[in-house]
Amino acid sequence: TKDWNGIDNIVLRNPRGASARVSLHGGLVTSWRNEQGEELLFTSSKAIFEPPKAVRGGIPICFPQFGNCGSLEQHGFARNKIWTIDESPSPLSPNDSHGKSFIDLLLRPSEEDLKCWPHSFEFRLRVSLAADGSLTLLSRIRNVNGKPFSFSFAYHTYLSVSDISEVRIEGLETVDYLDNLCQKERFTEQGDAITFESEVDRVYLSTPNVVAVLDHERKRTYVLRKEGLPDVVVWNPWEKKSKSMVDFGDEEYKQMLCVDGAAIEKPVTLKPGEEWTGRLELSVVASTLSSEH
Ligand code: BG6
Repeated sequence: TKDWNGIDNIVLRNPRGASARVSLHGGLVTSWRNEQGEELLFTSSKAIFEPPKAVRGGIPICFPQFGNCGSLEQHGFARNKIWTIDESPSPLSPNDSHGKSFIDLLLRPSEEDLKCWPHSFEFRLRVSLAADGSLTLLSRIRNVNGKPFSFSFAYHTYLSVSDISEVRIEGLETVDYLDNLCQKERFTEQGDAITFESEVDRVYLSTPNVVAVLDHERKRTYVLRKEGLPDVVVWNPWEKKSKSMVDFGDEEYKQMLCVDGAAIEKPVTLKPGEEWTGRLELSVVASTLSSEH
């Protein structure tokens, strides 16, 4: 299928009716639906689907820079580029394709990209939908340059939630974080679980590989399993910041939460010929009584 502006979209379906949609604009997963057809990712009603703008929603890929700490535009250029379909992906382990519906995308730097970030790379992204409806993003970034380079990375995952005040994150208790709202000062998470009552913009460091986002009202829990992604970004713009974003509704902060598998604090360094892999698996389970205290 195509976007209204002519950019290709790929739709993945599993036999039970779950689906995912991936756009070549940014290699962005724009939709992920369960068997009941319910949308699990948030996309703003004001999102602008116009390259080279980044889309407000789905799962934008932040590469080769997360945030605005480096010399590049905020969150790097990968999310703004038009990716291609990788017709001959290099072999992956059977686990990465067995019983799954998947698509392989490829991003190589353009002349223009090389001017602002002079490192040749091949970025292969496999998006797959499993028989149980879980969604996996597998990124493989290879240095095809003569010199080493370093990057930071995040799957900026916009989860759809019923009401942010009813949501909590489990798995980040006692973990250290950098607070973007306070000059990146370092704190340690104290509480039982993270809940939301104001703007949150944090990078949790060296986190466990499984994090859960519990949506009490919908009785739905998102489970994020990650590999190669030590950090977790947690972001909700809340009221004031929402009003300052042109591509985001004033009240939409109530229906979304970004929880990103990421590699930020310690940038990844690749020597010539080396490859890095970062995997994120998203699944949904109905909340159990034991997790509803
Ligand atoms: C978050 C950053 O991850 O992304 C925030 O920590 C930022 O500071 C947010 O506001 C959204 O970024 P952007 O570039 O998509 O507006």
